[in-house]
Order: sequence, then structure tokens, then C-alpha cells
Amino acid sequence: MTSKKILITRLFPEIGAKLLKKAGFEITQWQEDRPMTQSELIEQAKGHHGILCTLTEKIDSELLSSCPNIEIISQFAVGYDNIDVKKATQLGIPVGYTPDVLSAATADIAFGLMVATSRKMFYLHKSIIEDKWDYFKPNANLGIELHNKTLGIFGLGRIGFEMAKLCKGAYNMNVIYNNRTPNKKAEQELGANWVDFETLLAQSDVLSVHCALTPATNGIFNKKAFDKMKLSSIFINTARGLIHNETDLIEALNSQQIWGVGLDVTNPEPMKANNPLLVMENVSVLPHVGSGTVETRDKMAIIAANNIIGFYKNKQIPHIINPEVLQD
Ligand code: GLV
Repeated sequence: MTSKKILITRLFPEIGAKLLKKAGFEITQWQEDRPMTQSELIEQAKGHHGILCTLTEKIDSELLSSCPNIEIISQFAVGYDNIDVKKATQLGIPVGYTPDVLSAATADIAFGLMVATSRKMFYLHKSIIEDKWDYFKPNANLGIELHNKTLGIFGLGRIGFEMAKLCKGAYNMNVIYNNRTPNKKAEQELGANWVDFETLLAQSDVLSVHCALTPATNGIFNKKAFDKMKLSSIFINTARGLIHNETDLIEALNSQQIWGVGLDVTNPEPMKANNPLLVMENVSVLPHVGSGTVETRDKMAIIAANNIIGFYKNKQIPHIINPEVLQD
């Protein structure tokens, strides 16, 4: 095989590039600690056969048409809403991704945000930094408990399952969920019950979002949805910021329509430092770190590299979004 050229669009765990080099690929890696602009990305991608990218890169129709040499896209993430998969499929370009290995780490963040929000941890931490800890107050800074409450999962796939398992084990939470298809494993192992969207909104004490961003889920958590939630509920989103309407979310908190919010994803990203959510008592926000552990990011880098290696070695991509392009 003549040496194939792979563009790695970001600094990411070294093990991935090492595997690719060992397998004989010629690597170009963007060295700056920022995503490329779109024109830089197109310029860089030209002349490469593969792109190893992540959610900060927009792999759109224009890029794909401008880079006719591209034979494979390997996404370093489980979500792939930054990629025009339809266009890639039309062009016969396979798209790999990194599912499964990040489910537990991402669920840890959803679980952590739930606990932190229920006890106002981020806000109270900040109040100490601001020198506002004076004395013990029996009647102040009160959170809410999670034992035996109802957890609603919107999108019960691999990450949602891990979140439900944690909540069941830690707090014996009753799990309800809304999905396009029933999740039999969650029903059998966790006693989860499928409910329609309206029931999910009405009954969840904690509503945690774990679906993909699609036209159907874009903005689905808006004023109409928040208005149907319990006044005592906590909304958690660790999936994609565009799934909630942030103006409506702020309004729902201000009007005490919902009790609290935990976000690992925001709309837009990055969130600006003056966002009103950051000074609210019952809010916890993290900068999109769901899969961010050393172990998980290494595993993702290995999978992202192996998706490329497998494709050139024997036309097999272990984790592929559009397998139809590999069928003869
Ligand atoms: C992170 O958000 C991912 O999709 O992997």
C-alpha cells in the first residue's frame, strides 16, 4: 500500500498517532491548541486521504466536495452531528466513531452534575471563594434529596443506561425513559419503564438527556417542555447543547418552573463568562468534559486510529456509522 496521508485535526492522546505511524501512515497533526477555522481545515484536508477529527470540526458538504482525495473520516467522539454523514455516504466515504468506551465516564458527569445541583455545590463553592462563608445556618443553603425519586432518561442508549444504573444503585431511583425503541436490557436489569414524552416531563424528578442531536431532538427542551415539568425537578444535559433552548431554560429557572439545572453542554459552546446560569444557586455547569478521563480518551484515540487502520488493512471499520458504504 502506498503511504496514505492522514490529517489529525487536534492535539489528542499520543497513542492514536503512534498506532497510525506504526501502521505506515503519514500523519499531519494540527499543533495549535485551538480548532482550525473552516478555511484552514479545508486547506489542511486537501491532499489527505483520511481525516481524524472531533466535534469542533465541521465536516460539511463544502469540505467534502473541496477535498476529493478523502477516503475515510474517523471521528474522535460518539456524537457526530458535526459531520454531514448523508453527503459522506453519497460520496462512498465511511465514517467511524468511538462509542461504548466513553459511556461510563459520561454517565459519571451526568450523575455528578445531578448530585452537585441537588446540593448547590458549585454555587456554595463559589460563595467561599467570594468570602461569603460566615457561620453555620440551620435554615440556609438547603438542597433536595434524591433517594427513591424518579429519574427520567431521554434517550436510553449506552450512556443513558450507565446513568440509570448509577442512580438505581446509589439512590434506588425509579427509572422511566423515552426512546424511539424500547430498551429491553434496561427494563429487565433496572426495572426501567418506557413512557411517552409528556409523561416523562410530568413525572421526572430528575430529567437527564442522553439522546443524539438530530432534527427531531434539536430544541425539544423548550418553554413548552419546561412548563410541563415538576417545579421541584432537575434538568441535566450531557448530550448536546442544541437539544435545549437556553433562553427558555434560564426563564424556567428564573420563574421557578423547574428547580435546578446541570449542564455539561451549552448552547452555544463555549458558554460566555457572563451567562446568567453561572451565578444561579441551583445550577452546575461544566465545559463539555463528559468523556474527559485519561483512560477513556486513550481508548477513544485507539478506536479512532483502529477505524482507519482496519479500513485500509481489510476494509473493516470496527465502529462505523454508515456501514452501507462498505458493502460491495
Ligand atoms: C462528546 O460529546 C462525544 O460525542 O463524544
